[in-house]
Amino acid sequence: EDADYNKICEEHRHLIEIVPKGNGWMEKHLYNYNGFWFHPNYIKNHLLLHIYFKSQPTDIFLASFMKTGTTWLKALMFATINRHRYTLSDHFLLHHGPQGAFPYLDIESYPPTDFTHLPAPRMFATHYPRTLLPPCITSCKFVYICRDPKDVLISKWHFMSNQRSKDLPPFSLDEAFELFCQGISDFGPFWEHVLSYWRASLESPDKILFLKYEEMMKQPEVALRNLAAFMGKPFTAEELEKGVVEKIVELCSFENLSNLEVNKKGVVKFGKVFEVENRLFFRKGEIGDWKNYLSVEMKQRIDEITDEKFKGSGLIL
Ligand code: A3P
Repeated sequence: EDADYNKICEEHRHLIEIVPKGNGWMEKHLYNYNGFWFHPNYIKNHLLLHIYFKSQPTDIFLASFMKTGTTWLKALMFATINRHRYTLSDHFLLHHGPQGAFPYLDIESYPPTDFTHLPAPRMFATHYPRTLLPPCITSCKFVYICRDPKDVLISKWHFMSNQRSKDLPPFSLDEAFELFCQGISDFGPFWEHVLSYWRASLESPDKILFLKYEEMMKQPEVALRNLAAFMGKPFTAEELEKGVVEKIVELCSFENLSNLEVNKKGVVKFGKVFEVENRLFFRKGEIGDWKNYLSVEMKQRIDEITDEKFKGSGLIL
């Protein structure tokens, strides 16, 4: 074990003792680190990332708040970049699902993972807010996906309830709602997370592609063409003619992916300890499911927070 790693462990232990604590969704507590709430492992992983991760100029990052469409984007980005590598009938995604398509930065462990063998452009996913990323990677290209916070809350509440420690009492929607509004949820506050990337995308539109789940659902082909061009792999006239865009959209559709054996029965491991059943990444895949859960007052409260936080930013969700 090297000295850097020991220092990180020390710093992590210290941070956990001194930073503000809030109620957790999955485990007892979340910790506020640099303005955002994290499971303690993610604070340590963040420290590791800063020391050990070395970006390459061609790297492409997928950034998102949890439950905004990360899995979908992973599939679309991977299928688009690798469209000459796989046939649609025997595609990597059909066997492995989107989670395995490229790694999350956030689960860096020790000894550090060697990513140097990955073919360029390497792709990585992250839930860290923009302001917490190591400086070396902020000059790379980023795709950011965001979504209506009301749907994010409902999706996250379902997901976290499933992942929640059995030692804790059940997690009511009222409690999740209250915490979410206060900004206390993994990688939250939601609004500050979104704004961190939104502001960066205004500054460097050629480096950050800012996407909205709802717009992508309405016009996935348009979104995919923009995504491909942004990643430096625009679809050619011949590909458009052959319907490649439609085929990738179909391959990555909720309908198709959620019915795959790997996504019904498979499990994905994040780091050494954290395991999630693939099926939990596919719930409904709809716009506006919040209507089945939130009262009029709850809807109003979230909308007011959103209006207030995004006021003057130019961002409308
Ligand atoms: P719901 O819980 O509202 O259904 P993430 O991938 O960031 O964890 O987000 C998960 C959300 O995206 C879930 O939302 C999930 O159903 C939805 N989703 C997963 N795959 C999708 C796809 N191919 N198309 C559209 N939505 C998808």
